[in-house]
Amino acid sequence: MIRVLFVCLGNICRSPMAEAIMRDLIEKRGLSETIKVDSAATSSWHIGKPPHKGTVAKLQEFNITTKGMKARQLEKEDYENFDYIIGMDTSNVQNILKMLEQPEQPKVFRFLDLTDHKKDVPDPYYTGDFQETYDLVFEGCEAVLALILEEDNKGV
Ligand code: 4NP
Repeated sequence: MIRVLFVCLGNICRSPMAEAIMRDLIEKRGLSETIKVDSAATSSWHIGKPPHKGTVAKLQEFNITTKGMKARQLEKEDYENFDYIIGMDTSNVQNILKMLEQPEQPKVFRFLDLTDHKKDVPDPYYTGDFQETYDLVFEGCEAVLALILEEDNKGV
């Protein structure tokens, strides 16, 4: 079992979008029993809340469900429980490393560093542009899946 955790500031816009898109990709490829996905926040601000209505509406356009999803905060145990811990932007990555008390952890990535974009995922909580976020997150999820399958093939 390979476990992937997406992390953003609030766990209501970007990381739940990544979780839902990734789960959809995994289901479509018949990999649900091989790869598990979750998401979490660096902040405690929205614990227990469902994804932002902009995220829910954008995902609905693509027939992707957010049913049952609720924000939670990153915990130290996540370090042991996940193989890939993926922050949406540079500040998320810095906070992940601090919160996990693992200053240089090879499991931790900035999401779009896995694509040609090599930049932060813009936060639609501030930009209001959920389509831009969707497009980048979708590309990022395909890159994460490719990385997992490549490493899995090497027997990692
Ligand atoms: P997210 O976006 O990190 O993509 O979930 C945000 C959600 C909430 C806030 C900021 C960013 N906030 O300030 O409450």
